[in-house]
Amino acid sequence: RQNERESLYIILNFAKNFYRQQLEDSEEGQAVGLSYFRERGFTNEIRKKFELGYSLDTWDSFIREALEKGYSPEILEKAGLLIHREGSRPGDRQTTGYDRFRGRVIFPIHHVSGKVIAFGARILKSDKANANQKGANQPKYLNSPETDVYHKSDVLYGIFQAKNAIRQLDHCYLVEGYTDVISLHQAGIENVVASSGTSLTVEQIRLIGRFTPNVTILYDGDIAGIKAALRGLDLVLEEGLNVNVVLFPDGDDPDSFVRKVGAEAFKVHLKKASKDFISFKTEILLADAGNDPFRQAAVIGDVVNSIVKIPDAIKRQVFFHRTSEMMKVDEQMLITEGNKQLRKLQ
Ligand code: UTP
Ligand code: MN
Ligand code: MN
Ligand code: MN
Ligand code: MN
Repeated sequence: RQNERESLYIILNFAKNFYRQQLEDSEEGQAVGLSYFRERGFTNEIRKKFELGYSLDTWDSFIREALEKGYSPEILEKAGLLIHREGSRPGDRQTTGYDRFRGRVIFPIHHVSGKVIAFGARILKSDKANANQKGANQPKYLNSPETDVYHKSDVLYGIFQAKNAIRQLDHCYLVEGYTDVISLHQAGIENVVASSGTSLTVEQIRLIGRFTPNVTILYDGDIAGIKAALRGLDLVLEEGLNVNVVLFPDGDDPDSFVRKVGAEAFKVHLKKASKDFISFKTEILLADAGNDPFRQAAVIGDVVNSIVKIPDAIKRQVFFHRTSEMMKVDEQMLITEGNKQLRKLQ
């Protein structure tokens, strides 16, 4: 088992180097992949730091190279790099399968130790343009499948490149996407990791917790992002971490926003727009409740519901106090409601 994991690390590292080389040195890689990254404003240095690559738009250039170097079709499949072609005979090299990643820019996903464990691969067109092109139904990002070394729910994109900064600054920014992480690094913000689109998991939060208890969520400025931030927030609280939230203008994510306004204005926005979880949740829910007093009352119950997730009793007390002031309601009433909810949890 240990041996097999080692072989997976080796083939994944080989693939990473292959995609790197295709991006930087091949004609197609330069014409297509490099110009894509340059259009997004990624520097040579940042491509190197994140080991970005390119997979040629062919059926099998990677697996042919790997088979030639002596890697077996079985290990290539276990690494998530080869898709088995049905009906092909074992041992028949030409028909055994094809490359999972084709004609995409490649984002290697690193374990906290720096080992490559998976890949994310992006189509080259923007979302809208792609709808009118061949392969309109292809996902924007194609990711490695679960393997013996890649468990999506345990992984945070960028943790290897961010961990020292997170520890030093005692703070971690949490974003949604690969390119958010990369753009923020380029803007000089290195304590940042991505949940990679899925809803946040307990394992991901504990991974952050190894380096700092302080998290700020920077999700996309759209409804999906706000909903994901609300869900993530309760989970982060439950794990005993401190959480703040920064919202971006509708339609922007950290990557597009930092490119729009520049690094300095971005940092100012982080300071100015950062909200503790109670202010964030209250504002979002109250806006949603409109003038309906029953729904406004329900918001109080919802906010109390987040406060009781905090394991630490002293912190809970502080947030009950703040909420009573913010919402102009009796603190003792909040505490009574909180105790009621706590009893239900137990
Ligand atoms: P987004 O749709 O916000 O993409 O998804 P993005 O990161 O802003 O990407 P660009 O700027 O268009 O290149 C956020 C994250 O969700 C995951 C990826 O990790 C992505 O970075 N995702 C998204 C997928 O895994 N597959 C998809 O098809 C889309
Ligand atoms: Mn999004
Ligand atoms: Mn984006
Ligand atoms: Mn995004
Ligand atoms: Mn008080």
